[in-house]
Amino acid sequence: MMNLEAVDAATHQVLERGIRVFNGALFGPTEEEHVAFLLGAMDPTPGAMVIDAGCGVGEMARIMKMLRPDLEFLLLNASTAQLAQCPEELDLLHGDFNAMPLPDGCADVVIFSYALCHSLDFERTFAEARRVLKVGGKVFINDMARTMGDNAEFEPVLGARVHEAMAVEA
Ligand SMILES: C[S@@+](CC[C@H](N)C(=O)[O-])C[C@H]1O[C@@H](n2cnc3c(N)ncnc32)[C@H](O)[C@@H]1O
Repeated sequence: MMNLEAVDAATHQVLERGIRVFNGALFGPTEEEHVAFLLGAMDPTPGAMVIDAGCGVGEMARIMKMLRPDLEFLLLNASTAQLAQCPEELDLLHGDFNAMPLPDGCADVVIFSYALCHSLDFERTFAEARRVLKVGGKVFINDMARTMGDNAEFEPVLGARVHEAMAVEA
């Protein structure tokens, strides 16, 4: 499990700086354009039920919902401090994405946006995503990929790892 205390402290720091999408890099000049790009890539079917696993403060879902009001979002997070900052109009759920308190086959999409970096056990995380997905559903991943170096400085601070892209693809 991630270092919750460190994540909560970092949350306050980035919110104070006006950052609400917690991504290392943006596909566009603003958070809105970045999320619009991701939504295009995700390409959910009309009316899709989307679980945002490790939802941060829910900004990505808020923007996607604004652009696609037909979508249904369920925001899952292990951090109660972050859930308290999420939009009240979206469905919120406290829990671990490795053991989601959700029934089998309830979702069309599971998003892991800069959340897989907190998974230390891909098999378990993906098995859980597969369990909650309907047949034909999709996992949508937006994250960093490590091309060199290691996690020696990153991991002790946030309890997160930058995985090699090949590990995620495998
Ligand atoms: C770097 S933030 C990314 C937030 C958000 N997805 C975004 O793109 O802005 C990582 C998120 O994953 C959550 N998280 C980490 N491990 C988790 C777990 N095992 N179960 C649920 N949420 C988790 C953290 O609390 C945080 O909300």
